[in-house]
Amino acid sequence: MTRCTRMSAYLVAILPFLTLPSMAATDGEVDDLFAWAEINLPQLLSPAGTPSQVSGGYRYRYYSGTHDAIGYRADDNQIYYLGADGALLRLGDITPYLELARVPPGTAAEMKAYLDARAYSSWSADPAIRPSASVHFGNVRTWTNPTLKTSLATGNLVHPVGSAAIKELFGGGTQRRGWAAMVRTRAGSGGDGWYWYEIFDGQLVGEGQGTAQCASCHSAGTDFSCQGPGGCTTPVGMAGW
Ligand code: HEC
Repeated sequence: MTRCTRMSAYLVAILPFLTLPSMAATDGEVDDLFAWAEINLPQLLSPAGTPSQVSGGYRYRYYSGTHDAIGYRADDNQIYYLGADGALLRLGDITPYLELARVPPGTAAEMKAYLDARAYSSWSADPAIRPSASVHFGNVRTWTNPTLKTSLATGNLVHPVGSAAIKELFGGGTQRRGWAAMVRTRAGSGGDGWYWYEIFDGQLVGEGQGTAQCASCHSAGTDFSCQGPGGCTTPVGMAGW
């Protein structure tokens, strides 16, 4: 398979008939999309974390490891892929890609890569680092993806699939030492609809679909989100925490 065929096959698999209105993307959203693409296509887009550049109307990353490039043009709102063989492939409107990239992966290995890449950097965040009201190791900063943000603003009692929050954990200081994350991966109103992940100083604190360690305390919130009305004001606490 050529690189372009491989890229096309991947896109056919991940973009089943998405029709969304086209919206211009911010630099932060484009960078988050590139970071997400690097996690999903390491055989084409390596090394991960290559900085973005701007030239000729493109915001792009050129990968020195594979000699491929991926880019975004604001004037036509399209994503492009330039193979090492020089073939330019137009991958289509950026909007459905942004929708996909905003949902963190629901597995431990890919979640860690997503967090390391800070592929959530364009989400809405607490204005500053603040002390946590709970067991999250001290100082925190919470990032909320657009799906959850809209749902919270609407006052939904159950958040839609694709809702996600990521909390950066700073312990007693201001250097990031870990993350806690929650992603609604399945419809419904139970805690098993959320994927949970927390890591601190390189140690996995808790992880899994519906893991009771997280869900039992978060059940005090609105659909397990402590960002809903009333927060998680009556946490039951966890033995051993
Ligand atoms: C003892 C209760 C308790 C436990 C256990 C707990 N949390 Fe939380 N969590 C909270 C509270 C309270 C907040 C909001 C206050 C704050 O910012 O710390 C919160 C906030 C969060 C947030 C930010 C989004 C939100 O809902 O506000 C995430 C993400 C999160 N927790 C993930 C986890 C994960 C993953 C686990 C399990 C490994 C977990 N939590 C375990 C009480 C808990």
